[in-house]
Amino acid sequence: MNLYLCLACLCLGIVAAAPQLDRTLDARWYQWKSQHGKTYAANEDNWRRATWEKNLRMIEKHNLEYSTGKHSFHMKMNEFGDMTNDEFRQMMNGFKQNRFQRKNKGTLFREPHLEQIPKSVDWRDKGYVTPVKNQGPCGSCWAFSATGSLEGQWFHKTGKLVSLSEQNLIDCATGGGSQGCNGGFMDSAFEYVMLNGGIDTEESYPYEAMDSDCRYEPENSGANVTGFVDIPSGQEMTLTKAVATVGPISVGIDASLFSFQFYHGGVYYDPLCSSEFLDHGVLAVGYGVDEETGKKYWIVKNSWGDQWGNDGYILMARDKSNHCGIATAASFPEV
Ligand SMILES: *[C@@H]1O[C@H](CO)[C@@H](O)[C@H](O)[C@H]1NC(C)=O
Repeated sequence: MNLYLCLACLCLGIVAAAPQLDRTLDARWYQWKSQHGKTYAANEDNWRRATWEKNLRMIEKHNLEYSTGKHSFHMKMNEFGDMTNDEFRQMMNGFKQNRFQRKNKGTLFREPHLEQIPKSVDWRDKGYVTPVKNQGPCGSCWAFSATGSLEGQWFHKTGKLVSLSEQNLIDCATGGGSQGCNGGFMDSAFEYVMLNGGIDTEESYPYEAMDSDCRYEPENSGANVTGFVDIPSGQEMTLTKAVATVGPISVGIDASLFSFQFYHGGVYYDPLCSSEFLDHGVLAVGYGVDEETGKKYWIVKNSWGDQWGNDGYILMARDKSNHCGIATAASFPEV
């Protein structure tokens, strides 16, 4: 009897909470689900759809405002379309640093003397950057950020672009507060490679998007590290000089906002973005100036696949008071 009562309550609860859906969006919803390979249990489909509709409306509102010049970037629906911003933050939050917990521990970057700082730099054109990777549902951004700058420095030294293993870092770089898919730090990844005497290639130690046992094999080593260097925190001009002279640099940013979740193109600037509370590790591969608008930007490689953003990249506002904290926790390895 009790059980029956309970079931009845549950059913009523679900019916009462059933969201109003916009039936004119049916075709788009089916198309989006099939494009991203989404399947849900029967009782999940409705509220996922409701979340997706809400996101879609916010994206369309933003893009309308963009067309009237209110924003410097536009957004698009993507594979994160069925996630609330809270869910998105929880899943993607793989780098935790705020101004009270500094985790960088390399030697301090000594600014090169430059007669003139280049107006724009893009290390992709010089062969320093591997194709965009995808971390999947695992908070391993720190590992992708670290392999990115190491791949660049290794190319600089050897002339060979070798894709390096994030899974090796997830499974083995457990020092310095790094916890695999639960988040970590680029400097602790560099330190691991330095102390370990190598990191395996992507090919020999492929990505699994989950925590596993350490299976490093010295014979599959693809690169080495002799030390690592931190950019003085918050100094965006120094970061500019580092990106201009060194190569791609690992950076921490605040990527927690709705606007970042659905970024598509243009120069990303959101007044709510924090320069102190960082939650994502990415790679600054260059910088430039938008010819039409004169807006300065960083060219940033993300690790959410090439469907996200602008073919997997984002242009982020530069020289806007360390926007999103791009210069707060920047570092690179020495090889
Ligand atoms: C890295 O260093 C180790 C130990 O010195 C060496 O055995 C290995 O071959 C090096 N890896 C590469 C890719 O040069």
